Amino acid sequence: MERLTLLSLGSINADFQVRVDEPPGGRETLLAHDLCRLSGGKASNTAYLAARFGHRSILLGRVGDDDLAEQALGPLREAGIEIDGVGRAAGQATGVSMIMVPPDAKKHIVLATNANDCWDEAAADAICSCIESCETPARLALDYEIPAWVVRRAVETAARRDIPVVLDPSFPDRLERDLLPMLHAITPNADEAEALVGYPVDNIEAAADTARELQRAGTEIVCIKLSDGGCVLACGEEVSHIPPGQVEPVDTTGAGDAFTGVFAIALLEGRAPREAAAWGVAAANLAVTAYGSQPAYPDREQVASMAQQLLGAVRVLHD
Ligand code: RIB
Repeated sequence: MERLTLLSLGSINADFQVRVDEPPGGRETLLAHDLCRLSGGKASNTAYLAARFGHRSILLGRVGDDDLAEQALGPLREAGIEIDGVGRAAGQATGVSMIMVPPDAKKHIVLATNANDCWDEAAADAICSCIESCETPARLALDYEIPAWVVRRAVETAARRDIPVVLDPSFPDRLERDLLPMLHAITPNADEAEALVGYPVDNIEAAADTARELQRAGTEIVCIKLSDGGCVLACGEEVSHIPPGQVEPVDTTGAGDAFTGVFAIALLEGRAPREAAAWGVAAANLAVTAYGSQPAYPDREQVASMAQQLLGAVRVLHD
């Protein structure tokens, strides 16, 4: 496999993750166990996958000048990810996610964005020059857990270099619609999709309508990540449904990032959108079978094997 380049721009966090015996919200104090201190954040997670899949992985974003920066970046450095493009926000804390995982595996996250939201012009110039000088073929995966103006500058820079962009629109209220035609692909989950279109996206047909609407707004490929682990893909005239794999979920943390990261990697490798989406679904489904995000991420062989099975079950909804 040729070594290609994935640039990942977005949130870089220190994740503090615990298991709880019931979903939060019922009592003031909830007992927790199995504390893990992990590297997290959407950009970190996609960057981790690019390295795991054998590609050059360049991480772009901001951490603080505190001790949490090492929790966020240490495992990524060890995994071979290039972190020179990660800036330090003076006097700020690194982004922190507090994550609770109840027995139903459906994680609850409280995120303090901290340094992720602390950018100045010089910091944005620095990441744009990394994108400008990046060897191609390359692809940019990014999210909105950083300021919208930084996302805009990155997308515009990537467009000038003909570097295709895959966007995870978290947080969806930060999305600036005029950027949609500049994206190659967008990968909202059902909640984010709902926030983007303003109606419930609670079944496959609604997801198909949403995907079409986002396509009409200008994005070539739309993948709606469904809550059951499957996805609806709109590409060209065709809208199709890729079903989830058969897995026993343990922890859904980072599953959406596994989808977006592996989907972007598969497109970078020249796979057709349907196959790339099946790779994304497979990665997300395998990611939920163990505790944590990066430590639970599957390798290329596991993903390829499950994706092969899923491709046999794809259903075309509209063509
Ligand atoms: O999507 C999972 C990630 O979201 C976690 O790693 C956490 O840091 C939050 O940003």
